Amino acid sequence: MDSGRPIGIFDSGLGGLTVQKEILRLLPHESTIYFGDNGRAPYGTKSRETIIRFATQIVRFLQVHQVKMIVIACNTASAFAYDAVRGMAGVPVIEVVTPGAEAAMGATRTGNVGIIGTTGTIRSQVYERAIRRVDSRSVMITAKACPLFVGLAEEGWWDHPITRLTAAEYLKPLQEAGIDTLVLGCTHYPLLGNVIQSVMGESVTLINSGDAVAHVVKGRLESLGLLNPGQGKVTHQYFTSDSTDQFKRLGSIFLEQPIESATHVNIEQFSAEWPDDSNGQSEAEQT
Ligand code: DGL
Repeated sequence: MDSGRPIGIFDSGLGGLTVQKEILRLLPHESTIYFGDNGRAPYGTKSRETIIRFATQIVRFLQVHQVKMIVIACNTASAFAYDAVRGMAGVPVIEVVTPGAEAAMGATRTGNVGIIGTTGTIRSQVYERAIRRVDSRSVMITAKACPLFVGLAEEGWWDHPITRLTAAEYLKPLQEAGIDTLVLGCTHYPLLGNVIQSVMGESVTLINSGDAVAHVVKGRLESLGLLNPGQGKVTHQYFTSDSTDQFKRLGSIFLEQPIESATHVNIEQFSAEWPDDSNGQSEAEQT
């Protein structure tokens, strides 16, 4: 495969840009195609079947752009659709849950860990399984769904009184549990990092898996001989299923660099047929 091809990255909306940012930082010679499914967000309250259908369509779209790798920059889609995506992508697929779980286990001193995420991610218990897979120590885990955080992040209310009130309410059980490490198990949440940190206090380490995911991407490209040697022109293209104006405006802040142009995609035109071998079954369901 041609190492000059772009990396495909997707999320339900803008949250995946927190992963994209780390990929751009670590891999400046790589081109990317980012798709934000803003028109169908949030994913976190939707069923497994719906998320697999959405992810399948997005993979078809990324295949048209001949990506060399796909990064599922969304915890909910990683929890529900990783196996389906892997079964059909035809290129390596990176999910965000395992790198986050590994980072959390590297950071915790007490083994008392918290996880926050969307309703779908928390219900799937994908993090609990990943943590137990990466570390056999006995770990105490407190998980809490924080569905309103996604809307607050997409609205740009990253340090707003409503966000502070919402965080104080959501994070109570985690404070009470005395955790020392908190996994931001949704790629939107790093945007609310300051508010979450101030509610939890400085002694709690927040885990944003973006950096860990970028290292996994680099390692996999390296091992497959697909790292871009950096001779060609580097391009970053942005696509969304909703308003391009809103995407560019807020996306530029998420990414901490200007998004000059974004293109609207009618994602429903892509086939939602499930791959034969996945049977719609995903890792989250295989307990
Ligand atoms: N950013 C996504 C995640 O990491 C999904 C948020 C949503 O659309 O509910 O789970």
